[in-house]
Amino acid sequence: MDKLYEKALESFHHSYSPYSHFAVGASILLKDGTIVGGTNIENASYGLSNCAERSALFAVYSLGYKKDDILSMMVLANTPKPVSPCGACRQVMHELLPERADIILTNLKRDMKIVKANELLPYAFTDSDL
Ligand code: THU
Repeated sequence: MDKLYEKALESFHHSYSPYSHFAVGASILLKDGTIVGGTNIENASYGLSNCAERSALFAVYSLGYKKDDILSMMVLANTPKPVSPCGACRQVMHELLPERADIILTNLKRDMKIVKANELLPYAFTDSDL
């Protein structure tokens, strides 16, 4: 848990968020012990910005890992309560994380809320809807 927090915090500090000034860090623990981080990266064309959760998940898959290789994920921001992932990220997390994976939402005070992807996005749109 400490290592996951450290990586999420490191990623939080890597945030490129000159427009919102709202930094977010995410980290993902893999079965082989690797921890991959991701941060939010904004753009002057605001809609092209990418959230920390998606940066981290896309990095994991880009490294060649699959859904089953993932154990847990952490998301961190400087919020009064554990950060609440946006709707777009909930959709992506629902598809790319295993159902059993713990999603640990946290903040700089280390308040923590642990949820599963199904709780974050009940009745999600999935490949079975296509
Ligand atoms: N952001 C995230 O990185 N994750 C979320 O779940 C919520 C929002 C980012 C997007 C944008 O760069 C900034 O936070 C403010 O919305």
